[in-house]
Amino acid sequence: DFKIVVLISGSGSNLQAILDNIESGNIDAKITAVISNRANAYGLERAEKYGIDAKVLDHTHYESREEFDLELQTLIDSYTPDLIVLAGFMRILSDGFVEHYNGKLINIHPSLLPLYKGLDTHQRALTDKQSDHGASVHFVIPELDAGKVIIQGIVDIKEDDDAESLAQRVHQIEHKIYPHAVKILAEGRLAYNNGDVLYDGKPMLDSLK
Ligand code: GAR
Repeated sequence: DFKIVVLISGSGSNLQAILDNIESGNIDAKITAVISNRANAYGLERAEKYGIDAKVLDHTHYESREEFDLELQTLIDSYTPDLIVLAGFMRILSDGFVEHYNGKLINIHPSLLPLYKGLDTHQRALTDKQSDHGASVHFVIPELDAGKVIIQGIVDIKEDDDAESLAQRVHQIEHKIYPHAVKILAEGRLAYNNGDVLYDGKPMLDSLK
């Protein structure tokens, strides 16, 4: 089995999308644990419904980022995952942690990277009067939101959009691209070689609309 550990901080709708794709047979993999840094994350309940280990590691109980990250790493490694999926995990990870999972750690970010790294992406896209926006799945490297992109989903920005309506449409496309990225990783079709992303041996940058 291709084993996945998912890290969350909140609702976990992307976790749900991946679970749905595993249930339907579209993704051949198993989520062995869901870990949240917040005890009240709804995603924990989603995991429990599937009988998946749902763990809380509260970062406020640790003195430093490094201490928390080491404990998190130990917990993750106890599940011997093939892939670690950040799904709305709202913490910056230390370099040592990221390097430990080189090529096995992916994130979804709500913008068309390299645009709008960091927070508040929907409002920033609106303020800049962009005509489109979206989400990116990428490999994680120590530099924030800067790793190689695997796949992006694009949404048009409408005249009457506000940050909330835009976020909602971005979520819908996230629920398509994140399971797709996980699927091709689980199938072993996506390689991460010296920082280059190859899909069936060829350079990869897909866009979905
Ligand atoms: C998603 O929109 C994801 O792109 C974003 O958090 C949301 C989580 O939603 N991630 C980040 O902003 C990472 N910096 P979910 O909990 O419903 O999956």
